[in-house]
Amino acid sequence: MIESTIPSSFPRRKLTVVGSGNVGATAAFLAAQKELGDIVLLDVMDGIPQGKALDMFEASPIQGYDVAVTGTQDYADTANSDLVIITAGIARKPGMSRDDLLATNVNIVVEVTRSIVHHSPNCIILVVTNPLDAMVYTAKRVSGFPRERVLGMAGVLDAARMRSFIAQRLNVSIGVVSALVLGGHGDTMVPLPRYSTVAGVPITQLMDEAAITEICQRTADGGAEIVKLLKTGSAFYAPGAAVVEMAEAILRDKHSVLPCAALLQGEYGVDGFYMGVPCKLGGRGLESVLELDLQPNETAALKCSLESVQALVAQVDALGHF
Ligand code: LAC
Repeated sequence: MIESTIPSSFPRRKLTVVGSGNVGATAAFLAAQKELGDIVLLDVMDGIPQGKALDMFEASPIQGYDVAVTGTQDYADTANSDLVIITAGIARKPGMSRDDLLATNVNIVVEVTRSIVHHSPNCIILVVTNPLDAMVYTAKRVSGFPRERVLGMAGVLDAARMRSFIAQRLNVSIGVVSALVLGGHGDTMVPLPRYSTVAGVPITQLMDEAAITEICQRTADGGAEIVKLLKTGSAFYAPGAAVVEMAEAILRDKHSVLPCAALLQGEYGVDGFYMGVPCKLGGRGLESVLELDLQPNETAALKCSLESVQALVAQVDALGHF
């Protein structure tokens, strides 16, 4: 007989994904493949998280991952999660901006955060729901957690899009391309060509200005480009992969430096707002915010992006949830 009831001295990490739509399911599947921990997929839709989780578990013999994947409607099943990814909310339809989702999604994020915090008071929360900078602010306010434990996913996705376009344009391996996108995750995001490189060489030395402008614009429009193609929803493979890269940095204590939405407390001259900035992520969540030297045009673009984040946060505050 194989004994299965001995408690482990080294329990696995536990990761909850709230929202079993395309982004949540993709994130759960990628996290399972990386064996980041046992995964709980939660959704209000009866049967969907259970069905998708069972399907993922049944893929484990083929893919070779040794983690449990379960689906539920019950927050009690998420208890003592180490990390929680919030993807719940509605997605964009063609013609909508991320900001059009605010009124619906803020209520969802408030409810989800309350329930999560009740069952996992020590977890780290990663928010994916749009409009991102306002939703991660909402999760921070509702949870009362320190900023180290509430972060938003946007910069990894936006930079991944920029990296893809650079690699394609220059016909170089994606592995040698890095890119940086700061600011809010909206139309005013700030791609930074000077800090985007091919094997360490800034793209400003490798492409003409017109090509760079085109790549920056396509990056800023990256989400909308996919919404337009899909017609019934928004991107999910790259967003799922992006939040899992953040989760991995934290759960494996990697001290990775990734662009994330972090609550700024004086960095970049901003206080009390979330915005995309380079962050060091490790086991405690946010370990530090890296401050870059910016040129006047970059600072101006970041200020413009901050103003759009502030306008969204004002809308959230006016709803009187906290
Ligand atoms: C996007 C959504 C996830 O950028 O915001 O595709």
